[in-house]
Amino acid sequence: MIAGAGQAGARAAEALRSRGFKGAITMIGDEPHPPYERPQLSKAMLHSPDTPVAYIKQPRDWNEALGVRLKTGAAAVDCDTDRRIVSTADGRSFPFDRLLLATGTRPRRLAALEGASLDVQYLRNVEDAFQFRRHIAARSRIVIVGGGVIGLEAACAAAKSGCHVTVIESEARLLARAFPTLISDLVADRHRSHGVAFVFSATVTGSTSHSVQLSNGTEIVADLVLVGIGVTPSSELAARLGLPTVDGIAVDVCGRTAVSDVFCAGDAALQWSRCHGRAVRVETWANAQNQAIAVAANMIGEINAYNDPPWFWTDQYDLNIQVVGDMRDADHIARGDPASAKFSIIAMRGTEVVGALAVNAAKDMAMLRRIIAANAKPLRAYLESPSYDLRAALKAQ
Ligand code: NAI
Repeated sequence: MIAGAGQAGARAAEALRSRGFKGAITMIGDEPHPPYERPQLSKAMLHSPDTPVAYIKQPRDWNEALGVRLKTGAAAVDCDTDRRIVSTADGRSFPFDRLLLATGTRPRRLAALEGASLDVQYLRNVEDAFQFRRHIAARSRIVIVGGGVIGLEAACAAAKSGCHVTVIESEARLLARAFPTLISDLVADRHRSHGVAFVFSATVTGSTSHSVQLSNGTEIVADLVLVGIGVTPSSELAARLGLPTVDGIAVDVCGRTAVSDVFCAGDAALQWSRCHGRAVRVETWANAQNQAIAVAANMIGEINAYNDPPWFWTDQYDLNIQVVGDMRDADHIARGDPASAKFSIIAMRGTEVVGALAVNAAKDMAMLRRIIAANAKPLRAYLESPSYDLRAALKAQ
């Protein structure tokens, strides 16, 4: 049984079959759609209206080609481990021997805008992307709350289409969760050059039918407010199982929760990360795929420790920015010239490479991901040399 029909649930179902599992698989998802990939919701689908939804498989293929009983539009709301049954909101019950929680996350709501008469939306699913696209086409005046990845990718698409865009960020800089100040400044400059305005160290405190009020006392006219202020894990089902759910569902290296035969993978899973030196939830496309594949194999008797370093990318204007591992609380070593908009930065704690980012430097990133995954320990002095060939770090392993 797989609770959750997003990227993690879908990849787990595929992995179970590709590893020879012949038993019944039921996958339950609360969205009306079969599983699809989300990265394009804030990227291609907003830039080109013809971009199709990135379904992982066509609806009938889940059943016919893969033998997966897919229940869409059904929220799993309860779970009984004694009777080994998952129940859905519409009153149906589904039996299981092993359960994968792939319930993901949902957008944090902004209380100040609940019940607003102004158009307010979030960006998490296909319908949200369509709605935002309609506003882009109408050249709406858009206020975006949150200068994180969702807010900025949406701002990029809207600004490029001629919308008037203002981003309200509660921190003093953009993308503070994962990136150093250098990147915050680079990204802010790129947005400003496309007409995007920023208000930092502020949030939205109220609204009228045509404007929002900010905590700094100003008011901004808007046709639409897009809120992208982070996510919270969907852990209600885990709570029904008696699992602790403080910022996610804790799992071991194999994706096992504290309840026997119950596993978890994807955005909701809280798992140890060497790069961070603590347990983290990894909200990325790559994690939803690769962690789910590893955990699915563990559900049918393999023992795979999953420890891929977290990796994600964002595309904004001419900037492709990728980050792997953890950049915080580390020494930063630059490769290339940050002023050239093609460079990378390596993060070290002591002798360990714990993170890296690359701006328009995908080849560097490919090597740095491998270096971090292998826990290779190239000498700091080598990394500081601009001519150092990163491949040497792996050969030295
Ligand atoms: P985020 O955590 O990246 O950014 C949220 C931003 O909102 C932060 O800068 C934070 O300081 C700010 N904020 C928080 N509360 C605020 C408030 N009350 N007022 C103003 N600003 C406030 O989360 P985001 O952008 O919502 O993304 C949601 C999810 O989507 C994440 O899981 C993210 O990883 C995923 N995503 C990933 C992408 C990628 O990998 N390229 C692209 C888009 C989304």
